[in-house]
Amino acid sequence: MHVLITGGAGFIGANFVHQTLVRHPDAKVTVLDKLTYAGNRGSLADLGDRIDLVVGDIADMDTVDPLVADADVVVHFAAESHNDNSLRDPSPFIRTNLVGTFTLLEAVRRHGVRFHHVSTDEVYGDLELDDPAKFTPDTPYNPSSPYSSSKAGSDLLVRAWVRSFGVEATISNCSNNYGPYQHIEKFIPRQITNLIDGVRPKLYGAGENVRDWIHVLDHNDAVWDIIEKGRIGETYLIGANGEKNNKEVVELILELMGHDPSDYEHVADRPGHDMRYAIDNSKLVQELGWTPRYTDFRSGLQATIDWYRDNEAWWRPLKAEVEAKYASQGQ
Ligand code: NAD
Ligand code: DAU
Repeated sequence: MHVLITGGAGFIGANFVHQTLVRHPDAKVTVLDKLTYAGNRGSLADLGDRIDLVVGDIADMDTVDPLVADADVVVHFAAESHNDNSLRDPSPFIRTNLVGTFTLLEAVRRHGVRFHHVSTDEVYGDLELDDPAKFTPDTPYNPSSPYSSSKAGSDLLVRAWVRSFGVEATISNCSNNYGPYQHIEKFIPRQITNLIDGVRPKLYGAGENVRDWIHVLDHNDAVWDIIEKGRIGETYLIGANGEKNNKEVVELILELMGHDPSDYEHVADRPGHDMRYAIDNSKLVQELGWTPRYTDFRSGLQATIDWYRDNEAWWRPLKAEVEAKYASQGQ
């Protein structure tokens, strides 16, 4: 089996590449990644020549077409992924998330290759804090940010290519991931690396926004289950019942790192900040038998803290620029 993994030098993609080589030791793995600010060769360095890394753009058909022609399955992680960046400059989100997905779809259509599209729960908008509801595959799309609307658009392209052209594709929409190799612009690694640097964690607004945390390894196990057992044309929601508000998460990071849990600061809120995400995972669990393995958030977070402590060389070169960007907007 030849697996083409787009965005395999990013957070979730790099974990997926490692997991693929364990789950399918005989698979040939090719990574297509543009190595934007979010891609990191170092996340794949331990794999040596067990994989091929092609540095290129998913929106460039000349790059994409021969790689897809040679693959049995394309697993599509590549994206511009950060909401705050999409508020500063939406343009790369449109090119990569929409034009890039379109380009891949045209290639898999031409060559009859199986496609899995990795997407986000943010396409459904947000829920109220006191709403007992969770997102299901039938929840109407209602994205809030340039990031989430570009992902919503990419999902709809996939659905149309399945229906109109018979492309063999599945879609997954997952909640917030945490774990090793996550870029330090994101909430959890930003606070961990701030504390390593002696800087207080920064909470947007009141910190009441809820995210449904899942360990990245559980997300990726579900993606492989969907590729192997999912029904073509179907959408599966991935989540592990991990709802927590941002204040609780910051307090736990502070405690686990030996600080007073109240030693954080409130900073400017994100414009249009989604209040709550929550996933109903029953379709995935009942139909495909997936179960999450890393459900103890406290120990998963401790392991993630240890990873950032042990891998400072991986994130240190990024830190000053990330913090300068946030500081320029009061965050
Ligand atoms: P990331 O930003 O860490 O990694 C994205 C990767 O894509 C990087 O390696 C980057 O270099 C690459 N890339 C960007 N533009 C490209 C282009 N034009 N051509 C080729 N490569 C390009 O993102 P992530 O957090 O790992 O997210 C991966 C996917 O999972 C995304 O599609 C995202 O929408 C989705 N997702 C993320 C989460 C989460 O919590 N992080 C949750 C649900 C879904
Ligand atoms: O739900 C899935 C989505 O989760 C993915 O599609 C996105 O790619 C991924 O980035 C993530 O989006 P969020 O916007 O939820 O993640 P982020 O890490 O940026 O922020 C998590 C929460 O923490 C959010 O409510 C904003 C808040 N926050 C973030 C930062 C960076 C803070 O309070 N302080 C911070 O410094």
